[in-house]
Formats: sequence, C-alpha cells, structure tokens
Amino acid sequence: MMGQKINILGFAGSLRKGSYNRALLRAAVELAPEGATVEVFDLEGIPPFNNDLLAAMPERVREFKDRIKTADAILIATPEYNYSIPGVLKNAIDWASRPFEENSLKEKPVAIMSASTGMLGGVRAQYHLRQCFVYLNMFPLNKPEVIVTHAARKFDAKGRLTDETTRKCVVDLLAALAAWTRRLRPSAG
Ligand code: FNR
Repeated sequence: MMGQKINILGFAGSLRKGSYNRALLRAAVELAPEGATVEVFDLEGIPPFNNDLLAAMPERVREFKDRIKTADAILIATPEYNYSIPGVLKNAIDWASRPFEENSLKEKPVAIMSASTGMLGGVRAQYHLRQCFVYLNMFPLNKPEVIVTHAARKFDAKGRLTDETTRKCVVDLLAALAAWTRRLRPSAG
C-alpha cells in the first residue's frame, strides 16, 4: 500500500562488540530514508546448523526466521574472512533457508555492505554472498556497492561512522534498496 513504510531487516556477519560491520549497520539505522526503517537482528545465539534440530527449531532461529518473514527487504553487513563470508553469517543463512519448503529468504530483496580493515573492503566476500543468493532465490540489489576499505579510519572510538563519503554511500544504498523493494513488491510501500 502506498504510504506504508518499508521495513528493512539488517544483520551483520560479525559478533564482535567493536565490529565495524555492526557499526555500519547502526549507521544504516540512523540514515534510513523517509518511508523506510532499518532494524537490526543480532546473530548471537544462533547455534551451529544441524538438520536434526529442524523439527524442534531452536528458539533463536525461529525468531530470526520470523523477523525475516515480516521484513520487506534484507540488508547484510559483513566482514570478509579468508576471502569469503564468515561462518557466522553462512550458518545463519543456512538456518534461515530451511526447511526447504520454508526458505524464509526466498524472493526477498537484499542489499550488501562490507567493511574491512584492509584495502579491498571485503569485496570478495560480497561476491561469495551473491552466489548464495542464487540458490536462495533472493533478489539482490546490484548497485551501489558499499565497500568500506580501511575501516579503522572511518569510525570513531564509539563506533560511529564519521567518514562523510561512506555515510553518503550508505544513504544511496538505502534509497536504492527502498526503490528496488517497491518495484519488486508494490504492496511493500
Ligand atoms: C580477517 N580479515 C580479513 N580482511 C579482509 O579484507 N580479507 C580477508 O580475507 C580477511 N580475513 C580475515 C579472517 C579472519 C578469521 C579474521 C578474524 C579477519 C580482517 C577483517 O577485515 C577485520 O578483522 C575486520 O575488522 C572484521 O570485521 P568486523 O568484525 O570489524 O566487522
């Protein structure tokens, strides 16, 4: 319905208190455009995936799947670990995708951000993540790509994103994700 807010659910592929990716998500919450909200789900407490646990799904997983189901779009902020996505993120995605006929991520619009202390900003992890989206049948936003290089220089000691160029990138990404979501799911706003 027109005028209804787009509800974006964000999660980060790092559990670290001082995580730059978690800080990037907090910036997204703050910078959400008019007509959209960003809420964060913390992946802490999601156990290692075990197919045997599916029938009696762990509470935290059920919560995660429910939050995804009610979201209009997904925003993932992730570090790059060894040129790929962290196990914590892959594990959460694996849970969200099961049981097969209840893939909570199916047909969800999704955008990616990555932050790294290195000079490539986690970009390789972004493309591994995009590969997962194919099987998940998600609808990834192609551009803009938000790649935060040398993250330690772009946040202050309290974890606030202070780099103006990066803040603008986040603003542009959120506007594009909101537009993409409206285009794909007119009922979302
Ligand atoms: C890293 N880091 C890293 N950085 C990168 O740009 N490419 C990489 O392949 C890796 N690999 C990697 C593996 C492991 C196990 C760790 C712990 C770290 C460094 C990484 O960018 C840095 O630790 C970030 O600060 C992690 O993100 P958060 O936790 O700050 O969000």
